[in-house]
Amino acid sequence: MNSEENELADDIQQVFLTAEEIQRRVAELGQQISHDYRGKNPILVGALRGVICFMADLLRSITIPLEVDFIAVSSYSKESRDQGLVRVVKDLDRPVTGRHVIFVEDVIDTGLTLNYLMNNLRARQPASLEVCVLFDRNMRRLIDLPLRYKGFNLPDYFVVGYGLDHHERYRNLPYVGILKPEVLFARSKDSG
Ligand code: PRP
Repeated sequence: MNSEENELADDIQQVFLTAEEIQRRVAELGQQISHDYRGKNPILVGALRGVICFMADLLRSITIPLEVDFIAVSSYSKESRDQGLVRVVKDLDRPVTGRHVIFVEDVIDTGLTLNYLMNNLRARQPASLEVCVLFDRNMRRLIDLPLRYKGFNLPDYFVVGYGLDHHERYRNLPYVGILKPEVLFARSKDSG
């Protein structure tokens, strides 16, 4: 690999989960969902954008018929986000009333976004509503909701990759890594 190809990897202090470890766990989650939802034609609803890698791999590890849709939320400001105030900026394309919905997230931190979105989805009266999250980081949890399917617990490090970003960078790393402190600090200064 030349130095250009290592541009993202060079910013990683330590690999926390390898691509193989992630793939193995995602395959297990897919098997479990295939078993639990047989004959139910579930709709997997992903919250953009961090969920993209997980959703793409999870879909391909599920062996029953399903549908997929996406929703996106945005915060008004950092302060409002801290209070759990977000707004939908891209809604689902199709109704989920009477359908079996699996809400798919990359990471749950405070739980505020999940709480907002679960209330939003529940109001549409699905037949059932469950959560499938790849990374559970519970140190800052403010609202605890049941997580039916969970991939990994995340420690209190700033990690990137496999959809997780730092100022929109590193989402395309195939593994999850801990960012070097100097990179974290430098980029925080650059972009506020
Ligand atoms: C992440 C994640 C959740 C939210 C979880 O999204 O995808 O939506 O944070 O945090 P919370 O539990 O504290 O509410 P982010 O805002 O980083 O956007 P992204 O998906 O575009 O990366």
